[in-house]
Amino acid sequence: MAVEELTSALETGRNETFDVEAVRRDFPILGLEVEGNPLVYLDNAATTQKPEAVIEAVRRFYTTQNANIHRGVHHLSQVATEAYEASRRKVQRFINARRASEIVFVRGATEGINLVAHSFGRMRVRSGDEILITAMEHHSNIVPWQMLCEQTGAKLRIAPMNARGELLVEEFRALLTPRTRLAAVVWVSNALGTVNPAAEIIEAARGEGVPVLLDAAQAAPHLPIDVQALDVDFLVFSGHKTYGPTGIGVVYGKRELLDAMPPYQGGGEMIASVTFEKTVYNEVPYKFEAGTPNVAGAVGLGVAVEYLTGLGLEKVGRYEEELLAYAEESLSRLPEVTIVGTAARKAGAVSFVVDDIHPHDLGTILDQQGIAIRTGHHCAQPAMDFFGVPATARASLAFYNTKGEIDCLVRGLRRAMEVFA
Ligand code: ALA
Repeated sequence: MAVEELTSALETGRNETFDVEAVRRDFPILGLEVEGNPLVYLDNAATTQKPEAVIEAVRRFYTTQNANIHRGVHHLSQVATEAYEASRRKVQRFINARRASEIVFVRGATEGINLVAHSFGRMRVRSGDEILITAMEHHSNIVPWQMLCEQTGAKLRIAPMNARGELLVEEFRALLTPRTRLAAVVWVSNALGTVNPAAEIIEAARGEGVPVLLDAAQAAPHLPIDVQALDVDFLVFSGHKTYGPTGIGVVYGKRELLDAMPPYQGGGEMIASVTFEKTVYNEVPYKFEAGTPNVAGAVGLGVAVEYLTGLGLEKVGRYEEELLAYAEESLSRLPEVTIVGTAARKAGAVSFVVDDIHPHDLGTILDQQGIAIRTGHHCAQPAMDFFGVPATARASLAFYNTKGEIDCLVRGLRRAMEVFA
């Protein structure tokens, strides 16, 4: 369905129920066969598939708009610049930022966290200070802070979780001290599916004067985001997990923070003037966008977030919740399966282990049936250690998945158990 059709369907109220079959037709790759079976793509937390509207926008950019941006007076450069800046405004609307200048385009959530760690870190973090994270972070929200701590002599503090994979918010509160310079917290865990109580976390940190970075890499595809209502200081997400292209992502930062922060990288575009004696930096967001950015990626991301919004985020959310509940219920009926991460509120992903079958073997046998899941530590080794497993199998869902595909997964698991019996 085209974005315009979806928008008009929403306006006329025709789109009350979520028509998953119509939506699936928007994603050409979902028609593929793998090993002679229809593709069942359940690895959406790793990357999502792209709707035709995004593919077409990228194609259109390269066939009719491509030029370098913010540099040329010629027609194409102006067209490309406008397309890029229009995408920034689309992302601004998607997360309800107050200003477009609070949206910095980067390569992805990982680069976004690195940007904040380097830049905010250089500005605010000194020896003896503390950075607070949680026990369920992705490596990309652990390692940049460890690097910062090594460089500055600051300490990394870890807020624990319980056996269900839920953050212990009271312990998080207790770890906020006058030395805490930043709390960097995952909103939705990629390894466990846990949805952390973002608003409560931010409120607790705000009470102690501590700014918060939310890693929304897994939240952006599943939950509505309102950075003003959350009053969050920084938020990052990746385009490719949000139905957009790879190599593009977003850092949202409050304008006053971004203004005060030093640049992350030096180069073209991030300067106002350069002499060998002194460089005057450009204003935000350009100060943080050194070099030629991924213009086509940004254009694709703009269309992706419009597409997602056009589907109706609440409706998508309800459908995905139902699908996840169905997946968990179906997997729980298999006595050999243990779900890892049973938080009361989850989104998008279900991690599990199967008695006597290594997750990698499971992944291979499922792949032979055309079923794509991820197996491994999911770049969250400390979370795996907490649960005492080296790896899990993870089925991660998107709104284009169906109950029929969950049934395929369950049949695939049964077959794997027969092979290993
Ligand atoms: N962080 C991505 C995942 O969870 C790659 O699979």
